[in-house]
Amino acid sequence: MKALRNAMLLAGLAVVAGSAAAAVDDDMKALASKSGCLTCHSIESGAPGPNGMAPIGPAWQDVAKMYKGKPGADTFLTRVVLEGSNPYGSHWKDQVSGLAMPPNKVAIKEADAKKLVKWILTLAPK
Ligand code: HEC
Repeated sequence: MKALRNAMLLAGLAVVAGSAAAAVDDDMKALASKSGCLTCHSIESGAPGPNGMAPIGPAWQDVAKMYKGKPGADTFLTRVVLEGSNPYGSHWKDQVSGLAMPPNKVAIKEADAKKLVKWILTLAPK
């Protein structure tokens, strides 16, 4: 009886955790959309860019894959997002059609950029 009750309790907790994660996803998608990120980025890998070219910026699942397990990736990427990337030192050469990312600090606050980057880094396909 006790085991059954514990199992039910655990199932309940899993549901709560699941919906909390979904709420975070919704918040982060809204923030990305409001900040203009989604004009150049898709969240899931494999979406084509304009006119069948490579996507303008890398899909965020690909970003998560590339930086997986790299210490300090969140701090580094927050700087890139705020200050823009260097067209002569592209991290995504030949994989994207955008030459560089413009500085986004006009569109997003540093704390929000950090939150968004941390979320992006969780998106690597399991
Ligand atoms: C005008 C198009 C554009 C917009 C808007 C844009 N990006 Fe980018 N983003 C790019 C391009 C192009 C790259 C690839 C840069 C490179 O080749 O190093 C990129 C790269 C990135 C990377 C990986 C950086 C790296 O060095 O590997 C992250 C993370 C990122 N963008 C997040 C964001 C976020 C968050 C926003 C919104 C606040 C945003 N981007 C808005 C075009 C854009």
